[in-house]
Amino acid sequence: MAQLELIVTEDGSHTLYNPELKEHYHSTHGAIQEGMHIFINAGLREVVKKKKQVRILEVGFGTGLNCMLTMLEGWRTGLEIDYHAVEPYPLSEKLLCTLNYAGLLDFQDNPCDFEMIHTENEGEIDLGSEFKLTKYKQPIQRFKALPAFFDLVYFDAFAPNVQPSIWTGSVFKQMYDCLTPGGILVTYCAQGQVRRNMKEAGFSIEKLPGPPGKREMTRAIVHTN
Ligand SMILES: C[S@@+](CC[C@H](N)C(=O)[O-])C[C@H]1O[C@@H](n2cnc3c(N)ncnc32)[C@H](O)[C@@H]1O
Repeated sequence: MAQLELIVTEDGSHTLYNPELKEHYHSTHGAIQEGMHIFINAGLREVVKKKKQVRILEVGFGTGLNCMLTMLEGWRTGLEIDYHAVEPYPLSEKLLCTLNYAGLLDFQDNPCDFEMIHTENEGEIDLGSEFKLTKYKQPIQRFKALPAFFDLVYFDAFAPNVQPSIWTGSVFKQMYDCLTPGGILVTYCAQGQVRRNMKEAGFSIEKLPGPPGKREMTRAIVHTN
């Protein structure tokens, strides 16, 4: 993997830059702000209107920021979360240690911290009874999930122009099939072709305002019959 560069985004939280792909892991307008807007506000908070036990799949675990934000939201609101994350290129421990998320997010009174979510790159990590984390070191294209297993997908891959093979109709069909009726997929991406691929897979599309620096984001929904 290329030498990743550490960047401070506009809300003070770190992100990483991959010079080979010319891609950041998060919005440079604010990594934490973006994660809260797309995955927690538009995703998790929508799903928990109907249930308190939630199964989540994250596509692209990367720094683990979305996992941390989800864990904190779960602790604050008393959710039971079963979190599964796919990441074929786990980050090195050395790099993860430099990230400032643990200091910015209040993990102090909680029985778990940033280091613990990164202890393994594959398999289950014990984080207490309310939050279960399972990691898969493989590309999403090879990931096999049980049908109608997840309530929510965080689709956080690199952009479609950089990794077009992840944003295809066939991957979205995989995502559609592994979601429960009424389940949702959220992503920062608002590209027309991506939305058409989602529709082709069966999803209904909602266009939502994006986080600062981005006009729109996408929420894709599996219809209840
Ligand atoms: C935009 S970054 C987001 C990472 C993460 N969500 C975070 O908050 O740090 C995209 C991530 O997708 C991962 N990725 C690359 N190819 C993938 C694939 N085929 N399937 C799943 N994830 C992939 C990258 O390694 C990277 O960690």
